[in-house]
Amino acid sequence: MKTTILIISLLLTGIIETIAQTYDTVWLSSLDISKATIGWGKPGADVSCMGNPIILDGITYKKGFGTHAPGVLYVKLSGGSARFHATVGINDEEKASVGSAIFKIYTKTDLLWQSDIVRSGGHAQSVDLSMAKLDTIIFCSETTADGPNYDHTDWADAYFLVKGSKPIAIDRPSEPAVILTPKAAPGPKINGPKVYGVRPGNDFIFRIAATGERPMVFKAKGLPAGLKLDSKTGIITGRVKKIGKYEVTLSATNIIGTSNRKLTIICGSQIALTPPLGWNSWNCFACAVDQDKVKAAADAMVKSGLADHGWSYINIDDCWMVQPESKDAVVGGEIRDDQGNMNVNRKFADMKGLTTYVHSLGLKIGTYSGPGPKTCAGYTACYKFEEKDALKFAELGFDYLKYDWCDYERIAKDHSLPELKKPYRVMRDALNKVNRDIIYSLCQYGMGDVWQWGTEVGGNCWRTTGDITDDWSSMESIGFGQAGKEKYAGPGHWNDPDMLVVGKVGWGPQLHTTRLTPNEQYTHISLWALLASPLLIGCDMTQLDDFTYSLLTNDEVLDINQDPIGKQASRILKDGNFEVWVKELEDGSKAVGLFNRSLFAAPVTVSWNDLGLAGNYIVRDLWSQHDEGNYSGSFTATIPSHGVKLVRIYKK
Ligand code: GAL
Repeated sequence: MKTTILIISLLLTGIIETIAQTYDTVWLSSLDISKATIGWGKPGADVSCMGNPIILDGITYKKGFGTHAPGVLYVKLSGGSARFHATVGINDEEKASVGSAIFKIYTKTDLLWQSDIVRSGGHAQSVDLSMAKLDTIIFCSETTADGPNYDHTDWADAYFLVKGSKPIAIDRPSEPAVILTPKAAPGPKINGPKVYGVRPGNDFIFRIAATGERPMVFKAKGLPAGLKLDSKTGIITGRVKKIGKYEVTLSATNIIGTSNRKLTIICGSQIALTPPLGWNSWNCFACAVDQDKVKAAADAMVKSGLADHGWSYINIDDCWMVQPESKDAVVGGEIRDDQGNMNVNRKFADMKGLTTYVHSLGLKIGTYSGPGPKTCAGYTACYKFEEKDALKFAELGFDYLKYDWCDYERIAKDHSLPELKKPYRVMRDALNKVNRDIIYSLCQYGMGDVWQWGTEVGGNCWRTTGDITDDWSSMESIGFGQAGKEKYAGPGHWNDPDMLVVGKVGWGPQLHTTRLTPNEQYTHISLWALLASPLLIGCDMTQLDDFTYSLLTNDEVLDINQDPIGKQASRILKDGNFEVWVKELEDGSKAVGLFNRSLFAAPVTVSWNDLGLAGNYIVRDLWSQHDEGNYSGSFTATIPSHGVKLVRIYKK
């Protein structure tokens, strides 16, 4: 008996030794994990996405790969790995939170393995899989229905047993940037909003947006008294005194022909009747902004042709005022003059000259400040000078004010609703005392469900989220996270899921091309159009490439955003990673976005039942601007990974 046991144990030791000798252990965390894309924080080698030890279910692991859902890492095995092992879960650093996620391992075509839902403070799960003959695998951690918050997803004790080619982390396969938007025709075509609001007696400035060869002659029939049109530039200026609704017919004529479009001008109490379309300096330049860059942006908006598609606001974000410590004020080195008027800093030596110049192009100009003593970047803000500052903004000719909570955190007693509303009411009252139409944009990242009371405090739009960045997880969690907020948006008051991150962005001074893939960029613009969101271009418009330009100049897509009834899309289907969103349009048709948030191309279907339709409808692809055909009952399209099909469903 003893001899048998001895022989068996000798044999087992031999086998284990042979395995140990034949296979190398390669830790997942030893690969180039900077190639991973993760939802938040930094991919961690043997630490969490926050740089803490990897602890799951009370056990500390020396080795592991720390991520945050949604996380993706492509690994090329080239057939050299025999097995993969890991223990997965949400790091105990979020033990008391409400994180939840699913871990998945894919080949390029199939799901190899998936965990159950793992939760903060819950149990970890182990995976041990054969990797025999596999070429490439993809490690994913995905968010669940409750979104990405606290999903600190760790692959603990994660290693390959390798014999032959070593695993290497690789980039996500690149996609071609396919331009779908047709080029503008040489004949005239008028674009832009179909309805525009102005308050009685205030400056009116509106540039008729029209594509087509120049020279062009513009006409406007039915303009209210007090407005005049420059027939060469298409810029309408003046003041309307009489409250009313004016049906205007615009026309543009060039050597090829004439195009007409109706514009309803409503002189009353409301502005921003459609979501503002423009540019903001923050996502490209941040504090590296100066007046030359803003002037160049305005020139680029006109010269590139963006203005011919309806883009019209040039908004300066933070960093134009004085930094208390730096004494960089233009006048006297002081933050404010003897009368309390705010000074600008030396990078904006001629602010009035700048606003006048932007207006001369028929564009509008915006500014930024906040209710605290300082802005987010530490520049002087409006606290206790609200009326003076509102007057100054009007005198300088600003048409848009982004008002950012930030440093008011030091003043507010707490985050109760009265405290959250207070500073926004104070500035509203101050703006009500000036005779200028200034779009009032609340920026406080969605605190206290601002969408529920943004209108009550007089906001024209309000940020519903924290800051966006140019990666999939940021954009998708913000964009798809807007579901349910649609009832709070409408003409004059819009949900704002933050500015666009296509083109060259970078928060200055260094810029880089957006890290969103081409399909992700289609998703971004399509979703923001459906959401009736303010669209503020966040890139350097002097460096527009053809693809970015095509994304920003599709008139059928922009018309969805600008539709006069101002409905925000609702999500009518969520089936795992597949979603369908619908926006009702003025003419009774529906704009529908079919989205695929998964890693692989897949068919997505919208059924007429879900849309409340019956019978035959034409389905029109909005990006390529062509009718796909007649459909009854449903419409299905194969959607690329992270991509979209944006259609309009209508009857002839
Ligand atoms: C943040 C805001 C950004 C930008 C920045 C300026 O609070 O969300 O969009 O305005 O401040 O400092």
